[in-house]
Amino acid sequence: MSPSTKRLGILTGGGDCPGLNAVIRAVAKTAILQYGIEVIGIEDGFQGLIEHRVRPLGVKDVSGILTRGGTVLGTNNKANPARYCTGRLPNGDPIWEDVTDKCLATLTEERIDALIVIGGDGTMACAAPIAAAGFNVIGVPKTIDNDLVGTEITFGFLTAVATATEALDRLHSTADSHHRAMVCEVMGRNAGWIALTAGVASGSDVILIPEIPFDLRKVAEDIERRMRGPGFAIIVVAEGARPLHGQQVVGRFDPTSPDPIRFGGIGNLVATEIQDLTGVETRTTVLGHTQRGGTPISPDRILATNFGFHAMSVLASGKRNRLVVRENNIFTDIDLFATVGKQRLVPIDHPLIAAARAIGTSFGDGAGSIVAKPMPTALV
Ligand code: F6P
Repeated sequence: MSPSTKRLGILTGGGDCPGLNAVIRAVAKTAILQYGIEVIGIEDGFQGLIEHRVRPLGVKDVSGILTRGGTVLGTNNKANPARYCTGRLPNGDPIWEDVTDKCLATLTEERIDALIVIGGDGTMACAAPIAAAGFNVIGVPKTIDNDLVGTEITFGFLTAVATATEALDRLHSTADSHHRAMVCEVMGRNAGWIALTAGVASGSDVILIPEIPFDLRKVAEDIERRMRGPGFAIIVVAEGARPLHGQQVVGRFDPTSPDPIRFGGIGNLVATEIQDLTGVETRTTVLGHTQRGGTPISPDRILATNFGFHAMSVLASGKRNRLVVRENNIFTDIDLFATVGKQRLVPIDHPLIAAARAIGTSFGDGAGSIVAKPMPTALV
């Protein structure tokens, strides 16, 4: 352990994700059992640092949490210390303040000398002023969307895929019985990783992802072909997908959030268009936050444990301001801020897209089989 680290703070930021507790447990147990340092849990992400809400985490506090969904520390995807909403102006506009000083005061009063932050690119961006003030920050990459640059996989993604796959499997039998088209909207923001992977895993007929704008007439043709064969169709659509020459569908805009756009609604739009164009009775299912809730599947428990352990190893080696990542199946670390403002989208020549096209899956663009560029893939 770097000689200066005696008390370690840990927080979870952004949206919750299966596997957060597994990381907290791995970090706390490794810190206490291997390095003899105290661990302080910060409640509700940066909100807890701003409001000085912290609690000690001992081995007993983290025992039994490996399998639990969510985060025992709580989280928050609005509290950015450098741009914190403290109220509203008479015209409704948010009032922004920089409350970094409050975070630094909490860290100083608690004698915390290093911080583990578990989150996505937004959480890493929130940590920037704290790192700039001299606190060592080690990041652990989290998101069900799997869209962080620098790491081939984030924990939580595979659980979200498993949940979406199960839902799509279940939609098959009801679609078959009623001879319907079933549209299932999944999460992922601007990236189609969940839709692509769950779509292939469930044998969905049409997969619509943000990286490949779709032509609704092509989708309708593919569904009509399906109806002449098996007599039902399953369409998985990523929340950030958009029609050719069209826009992404924003469900809600929250001006007080650092990430104000919440996608939602493309599933209903696609279903309405399919029914209108084909006459096939069509229903929509929006999986929403079911993809983020519940116990992590075993690969995510293992990945999260490895990330937590690796974060402690990086801290112990004396490195500063690093993000732990996995690349080519090896755990390593990169600059903490390498992910900020970037997204890892699905390459349109990804091998899984080529495999799906080869077996007749439609991406709504009318394209047939393509040759995949060789690339490492770490989806499973
Ligand atoms: O980034 C994770 C994610 O679940 C996205 O897939 C989704 O667009 C967003 O968070 C939803 O955010 P919220 O929980 O604020 O509705």
